Amino acid sequence: MKFLIVANWKCNPKTIKEAQKILKGYKAPKNVELIVCPPLVFIPQLKGNVSFGAQDCFYGEGAFTGEVSPTMLKSVGLRHVIVGHSERRVLFNETDEIANRKMKAILQEKLIPILCVGENREERESNETFEVIKRQIGEGLDGVAKDKVKNIVLAYEPVWAIGTGKFASAEKIQQVKIFIKKLINTKYGAKASEKVKIIYGGSVDSRNIASYLSDAGMDGVLVGGVSLRIKEFNQLLKAVK
Ligand code: PGA
Repeated sequence: MKFLIVANWKCNPKTIKEAQKILKGYKAPKNVELIVCPPLVFIPQLKGNVSFGAQDCFYGEGAFTGEVSPTMLKSVGLRHVIVGHSERRVLFNETDEIANRKMKAILQEKLIPILCVGENREERESNETFEVIKRQIGEGLDGVAKDKVKNIVLAYEPVWAIGTGKFASAEKIQQVKIFIKKLINTKYGAKASEKVKIIYGGSVDSRNIASYLSDAGMDGVLVGGVSLRIKEFNQLLKAVK
């Protein structure tokens, strides 16, 4: 099985030229499934031996100025969509209910949602990590049928670790992974829980990635900042074992 590496470029880089340069520089090894999520507007002019994904989507079509639906993403060949990233939740008031609507719309199109969950600093300090994850997954998957769950990717991304250089210990991450597997097992059974991929995100780099993959046993990682820096990102890809 290949490790899933999701490169989330967020609202970067500034120009299509820079975007093309970054993508051209990527060297993905054979043991990696690389999903690159650039700003959507760049995708038609990007070429590379990678799959492209979306950083977000909307759950409907029609009079929703500025939005893009899963059907549209599918029609241009995208397969993966990030949902409920903490930047969407914090900066754009995205609730669990909205994330849930998006999940259903994405799964309806047989695309693969990457649902992000994770506690913020205050929640961590008051030991609410598991409670928060339970709520985000419970509500995020509300009404999602059993046969759809096997295609889902869950990204554990502690909010305090995103873009901060701080990162969780492999031990803590493994505990969260086990907890998430149990939640899925209880709701959907052992087979579904085995199939669901669980990845980690938050200040992942070439020095800490091995501890997430081999020590914490994650199926992959979601990389933000480092994915924009070609040399560092290739070092990270090289360290995938
Ligand atoms: P980061 O971002 O790697 O810059 O911390 C992670 C993310 O986008 O979730």
